[in-house]
Amino acid sequence: MKVVGMDRREFMTGAMVSALAAGAAAQPSAQVSPNDRLGVGVIGCGGRSETHLSTLLEMEKTDKTVEIVALCDIYRPRLKKKSAMVGRPVHEYSDYRELLRDPAVDMVTIATPDHHHAHQAIAALEAGKHVYCEKPLTHWRQWELAKRFFEVAAKSSGAFQLGAQRMSDSAYQQMKQLVKDGIIGQPIHAECGIFRTGDFGERGMPIDDPDAKPGPDLLWDEFLGDAPKRPFDVSRYFRWRMYEDYAGGPVTDLYPHVLTQVIDILGVTEPSEVVATGGIYRYPEREVPDTFNMFIEYPQKISVAVLGTQGSSYQGTGGRDDIRIPVIRGWDGALTIQESEILFIPDDSVRASGRKEQRFAIEHGYNVLYLMRNLVECARSGARTLDSGPGLAFHTQTALLMGMAAWRAKKTAVYDAEKGAFTV
Ligand SMILES: NC(=O)c1ccc[n+]([C@@H]2O[C@H](COP(=O)([O-])OP(=O)(O)OC[C@H]3O[C@@H](n4cnc5c(N)ncnc54)[C@H](O)[C@@H]3O)[C@@H](O)[C@H]2O)c1
Repeated sequence: MKVVGMDRREFMTGAMVSALAAGAAAQPSAQVSPNDRLGVGVIGCGGRSETHLSTLLEMEKTDKTVEIVALCDIYRPRLKKKSAMVGRPVHEYSDYRELLRDPAVDMVTIATPDHHHAHQAIAALEAGKHVYCEKPLTHWRQWELAKRFFEVAAKSSGAFQLGAQRMSDSAYQQMKQLVKDGIIGQPIHAECGIFRTGDFGERGMPIDDPDAKPGPDLLWDEFLGDAPKRPFDVSRYFRWRMYEDYAGGPVTDLYPHVLTQVIDILGVTEPSEVVATGGIYRYPEREVPDTFNMFIEYPQKISVAVLGTQGSSYQGTGGRDDIRIPVIRGWDGALTIQESEILFIPDDSVRASGRKEQRFAIEHGYNVLYLMRNLVECARSGARTLDSGPGLAFHTQTALLMGMAAWRAKKTAVYDAEKGAFTV
């Protein structure tokens, strides 16, 4: 597989890439020979791409199923830094559309700001690539785009995985099976959430260069994408999570990590109604809420509460992870997690009939490696991804976007199943 580096001019124009790609239109890559490595292109070379790259580098070494062949970022210093992390020449792009035309790329990982995810995922699937896309599926204002993604993904032969990373924790697949087997009876209520302290997430968002300016090395219009047009602002670029044009606070940034599993376990799709409360209670410098609670009703007569703040970190339930451990309640009992076990607690109403507490060992914890491996296996076999495939990603995003719409309007968001749309 031919891999080339690019100089500064080529970064600006993409001329070499176009030449390379000329005459080699992207081919659907659903058929991958088991002996061929998937060529991977990483789109977005900021903080999260560290994990994408280190995972892919590990897979290159141990699984020998992938090979990083291309990187893309609209900010050249980060592109160069991540290129150095790969440690050998790779194709470098400033425009993801050019990366998608590169015939060496079979699969992409997407770690750009939220408002680019679905645009880039749709374009990648349409170009015949397999996709690992960071959560959230879309920005909060992109409901129509989420729907379009779902339509495209449903028809595509490309495999898709959303990076809601705790989906790789076997606890949730095991809980899903237990619920399916009827251990809790008819599900009626669930709760989950995330509590943490920190303005923009765990590690903050560093301003790499306070003097950064738009130009050939920082493509501001490409950063803005379909967000409102504004003059360049160094804080908006580096600390985009603070601004509602590009982010939504806990509901979109954090809750895909916990609600995705709950929706999967319950087997529900579109909610009937969502209400939400919260606001900017601790960090007045940001435009997006730091505290957000949402209550989701499903037509199957199931309520789900998602609770959280970025202003205080006690999870309330202890346990296995840095999230509030989900509780799934049914008519006959509840399922939750304690340390490395799933715990079944019988309902008071069935204890008399002899139902007792039960514990199930959890097979393994969460790791991005499991999700990427699953994606690669599905890319090879043509199977749908086991974890956060397109349907689950879309249904989770629907509930989250209804929550955001309800919170902004201070009203109830109501889903109309016939129209396939919601109103507030
Ligand atoms: N799964 C997880 O646990 C997890 C953790 C952190 C971040 N994330 C997600 O990853 C995404 C990226 O977050 P981050 O912290 O790396 O942000 P970041 O700002 O550090 O990195 C984003 C990068 O994307 C680049 N970019 C912006 N627009 C682009 C475009 N049109 N084309 C190509 N590159 C573009 C930026 O220049 C930047 O380098 C977010 O959506 C976030 O929700 C997920």
